[in-house]
Amino acid sequence: MSVTIKIIDKKAESKEINLAKSYGFNGSGAFFLQESKTLLIGVENEKCVDSIREAGSIAANALKGISEKEAVFKGFKDENLNKAFLVGAFAGDYEFNEYKSKKQKEVKTQIIVPDADKKSVKFAKIIAESLKITRDLVNTMPETATPKFIANYAKTLAENENLDCKILEEKELKKEKMGAFLAVAKASVNAPFLAHLTYKPKKAKYKIALVGKGLTYDSGGLSLKPGDYMRTMKADKSGACAVLGILNAISKIGLDIEVHGILGLAENMIGGNAYKPDDILISREKISIEVGNTDAEGRLVLADCLSYAQDLKPDLIIDLATLTGACVVGLGEYTSGIMGYNKNLQNNFLQAALDSGELATILHFNRHIKKLIESKIADVSNVSSSRYGGAISAGMFLGEFIREEFKDKWLHIDIAGPAYVEKSWDINSFGASGAGVRAVVEFLKYLDSGCFKLESKNNKAK
Ligand code: BES
Ligand code: ZN
Ligand code: ZN
Repeated sequence: MSVTIKIIDKKAESKEINLAKSYGFNGSGAFFLQESKTLLIGVENEKCVDSIREAGSIAANALKGISEKEAVFKGFKDENLNKAFLVGAFAGDYEFNEYKSKKQKEVKTQIIVPDADKKSVKFAKIIAESLKITRDLVNTMPETATPKFIANYAKTLAENENLDCKILEEKELKKEKMGAFLAVAKASVNAPFLAHLTYKPKKAKYKIALVGKGLTYDSGGLSLKPGDYMRTMKADKSGACAVLGILNAISKIGLDIEVHGILGLAENMIGGNAYKPDDILISREKISIEVGNTDAEGRLVLADCLSYAQDLKPDLIIDLATLTGACVVGLGEYTSGIMGYNKNLQNNFLQAALDSGELATILHFNRHIKKLIESKIADVSNVSSSRYGGAISAGMFLGEFIREEFKDKWLHIDIAGPAYVEKSWDINSFGASGAGVRAVVEFLKYLDSGCFKLESKNNKAK
């Protein structure tokens, strides 16, 4: 006999619930009734899609302690709720045990939702698999997960998913005149790489470029981070790893959108040949940059990757980056910051992010903050002259490298908060969450289905 999963209102009463309560169940979380093999999941609001997604995750985790092959949750009439439950159930029991010598023995219980659409089941499986790709890579220690390691992973993913893949080595980055990117990577024994993957369906409605910050370690460089702040900086590659997860999902779902993934992979280290505060860098866009702080390295790598992305003439560019501590201070650990020049685009992305189960909010650019990144001796400074508004000044720095014709076709997503959290939350366990994957996939799905439209040269239907 399989386990029966029941989602119940926190305050609901029934014979079964009262029995569970007599055993100590307080109405929220999971409780397993041995007699009837029923797994009760108490939620605040049974109609709230976010609660249901989390309930899926709570169920999947509770089942780890119950040795049964199968658990059945009947499902809802509302397919949105079914999909949310399935995403929570499939992605919510993730654990990263790579470095534990004693692996926990686990009988993986299969969760079945008979009333759910097959499409929802397939989608949730793809999302869970894509999140696992991103989470595993981000959680991998920096000694292993070097720029080369991530570039090799990108190659393997491309082979498996039939994507085009181009890897640019250091000498090619030099040929591309990526002076900002190269400066960041200079002091590391691990050479930088730019990985460019392409998913190209037969009939593409749009061409999208996704750019990911891939700092496999951010020590801060010569502007060295204090020890406490350096910890977790293996997660500074989260943007690039999210792009890999997204490409996996898009190719498996089979969207009619051409998607380019551009990963800027480097390590920000110290050494005799390190780039220095006071250096002036010439970026690929030929914009000169005064280095005020070598810890503001992500924007330097991204400046050159965004330049490369614009040469592809995409209809939209989205960059994903663990860019600023200021974004975490401002928004908290669970929320991403959405920035750019196009209000409509930002609103549409916000909607998609929230629908997907990710938290995000728009941070508005303003002309006063733009002044803070002016430099006396170069075109722009990589740090702000004020200690306030750091997420926006970093976003506006990136904006300086977006050409006039692309200003309205660019979104910057600062995922510094939710990409890596040192406790479990929502459907995420300790560590990497895969932030950005669900939001971007949902956004691209909306684009594919015509929910939102982009201005596009390719899209005659527009
Ligand atoms: N990788 C960090 C940002 C970060 C901080 C991500 C905390 C996740 C959690 C980034 O490269 C950085 O160090 N930014 C500096 C910029 C400053 C020197 C202008 C920061 O936010 O302190
Ligand atoms: Zn940094
Ligand atoms: Zn960084």
